[in-house]
Amino acid sequence: MKLVDGKVTVITGAALGIGAGIADMFAEQGAILYLLDIDGAKCEEKAAELRSKGYPAKAFRADVSDPAQLREPFETALKDHGRLEVVINNAGIYPRRAFMDMTEAEWDQMQDVNLKSLFHICKLALPPMMAQRSGKIVNISSVTFFKGMALLSHYVATKGGMIGFSRSLAREMGPYNIHINTVTPGAIKTEGEVVHADPAAIAEIQRRQCLDRRLYPADIAGVCLFLSSALSDGMTGQTLNVDGGLILY
Ligand SMILES: NC(=O)c1ccc[n+]([C@@H]2O[C@H](COP(=O)([O-])OP(=O)(O)OC[C@H]3O[C@@H](n4cnc5c(N)ncnc54)[C@H](O)[C@@H]3O)[C@@H](O)[C@H]2O)c1
Repeated sequence: MKLVDGKVTVITGAALGIGAGIADMFAEQGAILYLLDIDGAKCEEKAAELRSKGYPAKAFRADVSDPAQLREPFETALKDHGRLEVVINNAGIYPRRAFMDMTEAEWDQMQDVNLKSLFHICKLALPPMMAQRSGKIVNISSVTFFKGMALLSHYVATKGGMIGFSRSLAREMGPYNIHINTVTPGAIKTEGEVVHADPAAIAEIQRRQCLDRRLYPADIAGVCLFLSSALSDGMTGQTLNVDGGLILY
């Protein structure tokens, strides 16, 4: 049996990297996909690739920091199916910046894209989930919250905020049978990592992991799949760390 068969699923930041990996695995496992990304062309490419394999997928250009742009994918999913089962909040940015060089605008942009987006998205996702008395929300945070990371103070602040938000919302939404969990990826080989991360630092991270290999989007997608399926029906408010054994807690 497919793990998310027929589940209406919204994935943010789905054009590339971890989000695209989640889209691939969820498609194979039967999800009906609504993919959104600030890069509308790349997002459409991903959806078209999935449709060419026979999987239902629609693409939307939307900036997660702009509530007006977020309405269309959610409204379309509800118009098409009258329900919304899964939301994966994956879109995020991670440009490095020394704190003393960081501008207020850079701090605010990080908060708006990585954290405040959850406010906008949950406002759209929760009403149908509350009405149907079921739903799964998975938020993609980062292992950097547990370690701290130089040059990423603005980023790590958002990733910790996501965990606090998820835990608190899980308490509010439990009575509606809505599950809200967080995944903290370690160093995952993605398009974004190639742009922003130092290869020597990545090699050092791999050396410190228990598992002596790179991690890929599919490693994160598998845990998101578990958290979106009935296999995790007894879990909410939890944080699952997927970092190859970099930190153990
Ligand atoms: N790659 C890693 O090592 C790693 C580690 C820990 C956490 N994460 C988290 O995983 C998530 C995905 O990371 P990734 O490495 O796949 O990144 P990526 O840069 O490879 O892909 C991110 C996707 O999100 C989209 N996006 C960016 N800003 C957006 C916005 N405002 N609105 C909508 N879409 C937007 C991009 O266009 C892109 O398609 C992020 O939240 C990131 O913080 C990544």
